[in-house]
Amino acid sequence: MSSHLKQFDPEVAEQIENEVRRQREGLEMIASENLVSRSVLEAVGSPLTNKYSEGYPGKRYYGGNECIDIIENLARDRGCELFGAEHANVQPHAGSQANMAAYFALAEPGDKIMAMDLAMGGHLTHGSPVNFSGKLFTIIPYGVRRDTHLIDMDEVRSIALKEKPKILLAGYTAYSRILDFAAFKKIADDVGAYLMVDMAHFAGLVAGHAYPSPFPYADVVTTTTHKTLRGPRGAAIFSKTEDRLDPDGKKNLAQKIDFAVFPFMQGGPLDHVIAGKAVAFKEALQPAFSTYAHQIIKNAKALAESLINNGIDLVSGGTDNHLVLLDITKTNVSGKEAETVLDSVGIYTNKNMIPYDPRKPMDPSGLRIGTAALTTRNFSEDELAQIGEMIAHVLHNPNQKDVLQGVRQRVADVTSAHPLYEGWASIQ
Ligand SMILES: Cc1ncc(COP(=O)(O)O)c(C=O)c1O
Repeated sequence: MSSHLKQFDPEVAEQIENEVRRQREGLEMIASENLVSRSVLEAVGSPLTNKYSEGYPGKRYYGGNECIDIIENLARDRGCELFGAEHANVQPHAGSQANMAAYFALAEPGDKIMAMDLAMGGHLTHGSPVNFSGKLFTIIPYGVRRDTHLIDMDEVRSIALKEKPKILLAGYTAYSRILDFAAFKKIADDVGAYLMVDMAHFAGLVAGHAYPSPFPYADVVTTTTHKTLRGPRGAAIFSKTEDRLDPDGKKNLAQKIDFAVFPFMQGGPLDHVIAGKAVAFKEALQPAFSTYAHQIIKNAKALAESLINNGIDLVSGGTDNHLVLLDITKTNVSGKEAETVLDSVGIYTNKNMIPYDPRKPMDPSGLRIGTAALTTRNFSEDELAQIGEMIAHVLHNPNQKDVLQGVRQRVADVTSAHPLYEGWASIQ
């Protein structure tokens, strides 16, 4: 931590150092989080935060953007190269903004958007009534089968044929299996809908060729940059250039997306964060990132197997990606209690609804756990298996002080073997 901050604002400096210590000494297993590199941190903490650059490279509403233009073009080009995309917009401040811009590029208020129900694994911005998406659009939800917990593509097809949505959205926040993008595309074609994919959770797995790519199929792909992709907190929208459903329109699809981001939905972009996205995309283009992405999934599978062997049920019985969704109805805790007791031993997770959950979102029957951050710290499958055992032990014995104390010690031992942001506190 810089001495400038320490000297001027010791209260904030102290909490930043405490937070770095918490990340270092705990097991970060929140499926939507990761740990960025020092290069990304440097870019995001740079004086680029001072700049205003409304508009796009070469067409700004402010002077002095020659460096910013180069950086934004690097981010756009690297993003396209990484995913094989035709067009990239790297300006959305966050995933919610990316989804908002994508919806408004493709649809009018009131139009039908068909998306995965929040209670079944979708995201808030996929149509929750408390979110802009549910208030401004007509949401047609789909879910998972009660018996398998898998998306039933026949059901998706029959709902789509009946409802004829303007946008068919594939993507999730709490689903541990592979999506059949080809089947989604066929349905979108058959009902005359745009196919939009929100790959926020699995973008890093796609980048590392460890999960199927939506790019050959989707008209528009939104993503956050901070989950498995391991970039700064932010988002991006990728799209085809041509608008299949409006070939003679005044704007093509790429232009519609850009207009929907700026000036429609945002003002000036966060240039320091765009620099961080450029750096993260470069990192994801390295061969080592593919090894990383595959290891995330191996680690998640090792965790899943260990949890099952230790008496914990998993929604859909396992995982094909970076996350597992625990159904903890048979343990001695609710989702909220599970999150709290695991927090107390330094294992960070989040409570989550499970499909057909009889309980409420603030205290549901599930817990969502991911392996992206621990894989960044080079945790192995063996270690994830041990962590699965620790988690199960805590969930079965939430009130036993000696159990909690024992797991806290094991967390301390295992994290000290995987250093994080070494020397951070001593940078002056
Ligand atoms: C699938 C999906 N889309 C969008 C978002 C929204 O991202 P943000 O929190 O950056 O607005 C999330 C965040 O968790 C997500 O999981």
